[in-house]
Amino acid sequence: MSVLVTGGAGYIGSHTVLELLNGGYEAVVFDNLCNSSEEALRRVEKITGKKVRFYKADMCDPEAMDRIFAENPDIDSVIHFAGLKAVAVSVSEPVEYYKNNIGGTLNLIEAMKKHGVKNIIFSSSATVYGSPKQIPITEECPKGVCTNPYGWTKWMIEQILTDVHTAYPDWNVILLRYFNPVGAHESGLIGEDPQGVPNNLTPYIAQVAVGRRPHLNVNGNDYDTPDGTGVRDYIHVVDLAKGHIKALEKIEKLSGEVKIYNLGTGKGSSVMDVLHAYEKASGKEIPYVIAPRRPGDIDKCWADPSLAEKELGWRAELDLLDMCRDSWNWQQKNPYGYGKPE
Ligand code: NAD
Ligand code: UFG
Repeated sequence: MSVLVTGGAGYIGSHTVLELLNGGYEAVVFDNLCNSSEEALRRVEKITGKKVRFYKADMCDPEAMDRIFAENPDIDSVIHFAGLKAVAVSVSEPVEYYKNNIGGTLNLIEAMKKHGVKNIIFSSSATVYGSPKQIPITEECPKGVCTNPYGWTKWMIEQILTDVHTAYPDWNVILLRYFNPVGAHESGLIGEDPQGVPNNLTPYIAQVAVGRRPHLNVNGNDYDTPDGTGVRDYIHVVDLAKGHIKALEKIEKLSGEVKIYNLGTGKGSSVMDVLHAYEKASGKEIPYVIAPRRPGDIDKCWADPSLAEKELGWRAELDLLDMCRDSWNWQQKNPYGYGKPE
């Protein structure tokens, strides 16, 4: 039995492919490499000693989607990571984001339908809750108003997959709402490799620690939080990857259902908490300046992850210091990610 991993060369995808191979699954991966490197998969093969069936392919190309399923008739589940994820770019290039994330997903669904594959696990996001009505956030919390086209693509793909299940009731759909994935595999061989200036907090801090950037801009210190800086639920990417294996075990037992799970730790950390943990993990001072709030940011959010524990038997094991230690290990060993210096 094989699993098709879309976007499997990316940050979360490559960590999940590693867990799949270690768990005895066969992995077929496609990725157009628009935000990743095939080197990540070579390193996954090195760590696991197992092979990945890789296609450089774009989900916006329906023929490529058809061919991948035709050539791999043993695929019986899909883990769908492929998508563009830069929040600010989605605001300036909304059409590109809707075309890629939604158009590509529609092609994927059509190819699944044609080839009789009925299990899909989708990478959604806590962003679908908008400004959450309650914290910690349970899956019962209503979906909210997103603040950017990226968030709306997640919101809409969740709806599309729910409608697909209504039309084809024997499909199984698991929507995984991630909180804030950070860290890297403990080997330091795979990790997050953002292109250009990082948008997210820990990759930015990592580049300050390694001397590529002079200081962190702390986006706002007047939020309604204990130290005034934004609070998020940071989750180690390896815990997150393991959550996908548990979701896969679950989907194999479902008989025509849609399930939604938060994947978070249940613990909130502020920007200053992360900065101090990173200083401790790296032994480096991280200079920072207080900068204006970032448009669209909420003050705080963290998960109630108890449903995933109850129904998937999954719980995050690693803490903020583990995340910072593994991020720093990756950053030190790969100061320019998988590529060459800019
Ligand atoms: P990533 O950019 O590292 O991985 C996404 C992968 O999809 C990349 O390798 C990219 O090349 C590929 N891709 C994009 N468009 C494609 C297309 N048309 N055809 C084929 N491949 C394509 O991002 P990630 O952090 O690993 O995120 C994986 C998924 O999880 C994404 O859907 C993302 O939106 C979602 N997610 C991420 C976060 C986060 O903070 N990292 C949080 C919540 C949800
Ligand atoms: N922050 C800074 N300085 C920076 C970057 C971030 O102070 O240079 C702050 C932000 O203001 C926020 C916190 O750090 O308070 C976390 O910001 P991130 O950009 O790392 O993460 P977000 O919570 O904004 O968003 C992330 C992903 C989204 C996803 C969301 C929920 O980028 O794609 O988590 O899963 F939708």
